[in-house]
Amino acid sequence: QIVHLENYRPTDFVLERVDLTFELDPRETKVEARMIFHRREGVSPSAPLVLDGDELTMTGLLLDQVAVPGTLYEATDDTLTIRGLPEAAPFEITVTTALSPETNTKLMGLYRTSDVYCTQCEAEGFRRITYFPDRPDVLAVYTVNIIADKASAPLLLSNGNYLGGADMGDGRHFASWFDPHPKPSYLFALVAGDLGVVEDAFTTASGRDVALKIYVEHGKEPRAAYAMDALKRSMKWDEEVFGREYDLDIFMIVAVSDFNMGAMENKGLNIFNDKYVLADPETATDADYANIEAIIAHEYFHNWTGNRITCRDWFQLCLKEGLTVYRDHEFSADMRSRAVKRIAEVRHLKSEQFPEDAGPLAHPVRPTQYREINNFYTTTVYEKGSEVTRMIATILGRDLFKKGMDLYFERHDGQAVTIEDFIACFEAASGRDLKQFSLWYHQAGTPLVTATGTYDAARQTYTLSLEQTVPPTPGQSSKAPMHIPLRFGLLLPDGSEARPSAVSGAEITGDVLHLTERKQTVTFSGIPSEPVPSFNRGFSAPVNLHLTQSAEHRALIARHETDLFARWQALNAMALDNLVKAAAEARTGQPIDCDDALVDALLAAAGDDRLEPAFRSQVMSLPSETDIGREIGSNNDPDAIYAGRQAILAAIATAGKDTFARLVNEMSLSGPFRPDADSAGRRALRNSGLSYLVYADGSPDKAADAFSSANNMTDLSQALTLLAHRFPDARETADALAVFKKRFADNALVIDKWFAIQATIPGASTLDRVRALMSDPLFNASNPNRVRSLVGTFAFANATGFNRIDGEGYRFLARQILDIDTRNPQLAARILTSMRSWRSLEKIRAGHARSALEEIARASNLSADVSDIVDRMLKDE
Ligand code: ARG
Ligand code: ZN
Repeated sequence: QIVHLENYRPTDFVLERVDLTFELDPRETKVEARMIFHRREGVSPSAPLVLDGDELTMTGLLLDQVAVPGTLYEATDDTLTIRGLPEAAPFEITVTTALSPETNTKLMGLYRTSDVYCTQCEAEGFRRITYFPDRPDVLAVYTVNIIADKASAPLLLSNGNYLGGADMGDGRHFASWFDPHPKPSYLFALVAGDLGVVEDAFTTASGRDVALKIYVEHGKEPRAAYAMDALKRSMKWDEEVFGREYDLDIFMIVAVSDFNMGAMENKGLNIFNDKYVLADPETATDADYANIEAIIAHEYFHNWTGNRITCRDWFQLCLKEGLTVYRDHEFSADMRSRAVKRIAEVRHLKSEQFPEDAGPLAHPVRPTQYREINNFYTTTVYEKGSEVTRMIATILGRDLFKKGMDLYFERHDGQAVTIEDFIACFEAASGRDLKQFSLWYHQAGTPLVTATGTYDAARQTYTLSLEQTVPPTPGQSSKAPMHIPLRFGLLLPDGSEARPSAVSGAEITGDVLHLTERKQTVTFSGIPSEPVPSFNRGFSAPVNLHLTQSAEHRALIARHETDLFARWQALNAMALDNLVKAAAEARTGQPIDCDDALVDALLAAAGDDRLEPAFRSQVMSLPSETDIGREIGSNNDPDAIYAGRQAILAAIATAGKDTFARLVNEMSLSGPFRPDADSAGRRALRNSGLSYLVYADGSPDKAADAFSSANNMTDLSQALTLLAHRFPDARETADALAVFKKRFADNALVIDKWFAIQATIPGASTLDRVRALMSDPLFNASNPNRVRSLVGTFAFANATGFNRIDGEGYRFLARQILDIDTRNPQLAARILTSMRSWRSLEKIRAGHARSALEEIARASNLSADVSDIVDRMLKDE
């Protein structure tokens, strides 16, 4: 059954307040939900109350404390319908349900993880706890009472402020929590168990003292220190940059080891995948630290963008997610290097969101229909949603954007709203019409912008012919032209920037060119010599840009652009040109040619001491196999892409030996480990130097040395990756893998890395390795992180291994998906999206991929999650 945006209407009954009592037991938890409702004005006096449910066992139903007769209610698989309710007066419904958290393998609703009770309610998990109007536009005030065994669950947590608790004298105890802020059910949370805690405090700008607590497994407290620091910085930053203060007396984070997603912003009680909380130098990489900082911030920022102002319905998911990702991006940019952060964001966007937007799963940032909402927690809603928010800031400029945000907070605090409400705030604040701009929310597909320039020396004019096309996507065959804000500069041969005396053909504000028509000709006057255009500075618009530019022109941008991101972009484009050519050469058996201009430009940037190390490391990291495949677009052969890329890497490695040796020396760090961005940048540059050196050398010795001398997880895991990926069959590699496994056997997050490194060894034989690893005693098919680290990583990040020409990779994945689906549909559906680009493969592989998808589609008892994904993937274009 498909849900349509156009069918939205408010509920018939208004929920005033909720009182929940949990008597926790692993197999027989009793939940009593008392809900006070009244009929909304104008609703028919005979209209029944219809509540949502999912796999519930109801053990009691009362209306104003009296049992409801069987003739007046009906409970089905997913609804509870109650008739004969008061016409206007408020009434109380009490529903009692019996749950089995221990056997809840879907990890939605109330479940158990390492003997701790915890919940995940977004999007529709609350209905697995009790019958309820489980939709985001139903906001109510909650009181929660928790009763549990005192010895095994000394800690009893829920949203809001702690009211009190007591011993019950029978081995049990209870605690009560009250959350004064009306909230939708998806923000409900409960945690009970025996956990350690790290405590701190924060005083808000207006003087509220907030107790901060991060709960982790006993013994892991020291590993929560960085998360606590990130939390305090987030709270301060949101006050300074967005004027948002925290609004309860306590803010809690709980880290759990079984979690379907990254983390969840439940009011006052965020629950995290422990991967995004726990870190110390011995076990976490620099990337882990950066992720923790970003996700702690993201969930905290949701307190305003998501919780205080929430979504009217799930079609509006980007209202909170796109905006909150934008906020966490800005936070990280302020905490670290803005340019390097932007490069990482764009790399991620292009490798994850662009393929989604170009394949069978493409959907608008604000979709209009869904079968399973869990499948819309996508990179389009999150990352493209963030880019769309960023474009509003680019078009309006900093001050008007701030004015619009302030108006949004003022106008909609306490409400459940839509994207239209959000946009209206920026229109009101700026006086600018954003109607055309809002197509970004409604039209799927990555726009393609082509540009050609001609210079008229006699007139000293430069003319740009720009054209935009938005490709067709499922359900949207033709598109209207979009408002694309392109930041740009015209560079003169000496590297300075041209200052046109006049411009015609487009609105230009600052360095933003507003492309609004399908075809637009823009003329710049007063240009003294032929310029080199540099487009999409800072990646101001999430578009594909086709601009035929020589390597020399790209090198000029790489040397002289004032925008660091644009420098990287030029080098990346130069590399991509060469890698696409190399893949074609590899495919036809021609010699592979590496352009000298590319080598020179990359080595010049890598060795340039005026540039920050993290930036230089980004330059040295070539576009991925996925990036190259996306650029080629269709009829892809992953083996040829790999071979071409290896040849280019080898050429750079050989030519750059001296530079890389120098970098490895210069970038080494002494003293205690520090996770800050500068130190991380030095480690990154040193490791990229090392990997090229190992490449040129052809022997595992340097990597083995790096492995034995590493004193932090970044260097250690890099060295192990080098060994495994370059010398999979060497004795040194087998030894290192064994040492690593033994040393970290009791640290699940590090063992996830051990699995992931092996799952990404290039080549057809890795499938056998993956199969063998599934029988390793450390593999655990019911832990999402572990399944993602082996099966997910293999399918998402091993192009040559997964896309074996005989199709075995796809058949393997199909069987895994069917198996995972019996326990955890959300996890199964997510991993299956790894096949989203199957149609762009050459026809032998595409044929095998189709058969594997059809095998999944034919299976009986498929979850709604998996069947939604597989059906969309197979649907004819
Ligand atoms: N709102 C969470 C976040 O972005 C994600 C929760 C998604 N959960 C789910 N089951 N779909 O931080
Ligand atoms: Zn979020």
